[in-house]
Amino acid sequence: MGQLHLSNTMQIASSIAEMRELRRQLPEPVGFVPTMGFLHEGHLSLVRRARAENKSVVASIFVNPTQFGPNDDFEAYPRDEERDLAQLEAENTDVILMPQPSEMYPVDASSWVVVEGLTDGLEGAARPGHFRGVTTIVAKLFNIVEPTRSYFGQKDAQQALVIQKMAKDLNMNLEVIVCPTVREPDGLAMSSRNVYLNPDERRSALVLNESLKLAQQLFDDGERDAGLIKRKMREMIEREPKSEIDYISIADTSTLAELDRIEDGALVSLVVKIGKPRLLDNVILGGPA
Ligand code: PAF
Repeated sequence: MGQLHLSNTMQIASSIAEMRELRRQLPEPVGFVPTMGFLHEGHLSLVRRARAENKSVVASIFVNPTQFGPNDDFEAYPRDEERDLAQLEAENTDVILMPQPSEMYPVDASSWVVVEGLTDGLEGAARPGHFRGVTTIVAKLFNIVEPTRSYFGQKDAQQALVIQKMAKDLNMNLEVIVCPTVREPDGLAMSSRNVYLNPDERRSALVLNESLKLAQQLFDDGERDAGLIKRKMREMIEREPKSEIDYISIADTSTLAELDRIEDGALVSLVVKIGKPRLLDNVILGGPA
């Protein structure tokens, strides 16, 4: 077993055994924020919420290889461990779990966690195998940390729904809490991948939030035709030369089935490639933003 690394109050577990040992000493309830590092205000808002609602807070930093496809940016995924640790310490995080890939995925591992149905469309269709990687790592992290509550961002709306479904279907003994998207002052949803945007692309990226605001406006004005709302969004985004739309979806907020008409509420989500990164954003119509 490696050594426990101690800072003032925050402790770092770099193995599963160390995490389990520390977990035994943590006052209940325990809030948990899983991350892939390169933290921004979005992550920190989850940590603050966990801090406010629990006696102890655990965060994990693990760039999970199994949720990246062959054409994804696993190797290039931005990393800044030192800054992450300083930020987590400033938020009074009690324990950081930073496991080794070889311990999380031993060569003979052959078990996966799969949520069917909800993962068929949107990011599931665009990135085959992605959600299998996400649900497997999150299930493993839940088993290791055994949190009372775990916190995820609404920005990855499908991921949040998939994890809630996994926890419910598999009778996991925790609450999965989804927290609002945190935005830059100009409206761009915070994302670790925003770092890939050059200044021109950064300006173009505002079109995602602008198109969601347009959808919200049309809905507020009484429009319920999902096809028409998507068309208007598409027209707006296509006026932005650097943009390449991957998908625009208006779907049921719990099943993610595509809607023709919006009755009660809807999840409007979109992915647009601006330069290198695929940027995601969403808004819930007829419900909390
Ligand atoms: O949202 C993320 O950062 C990741 O998908 C998660 C939940 C930490 C699993 O690797």
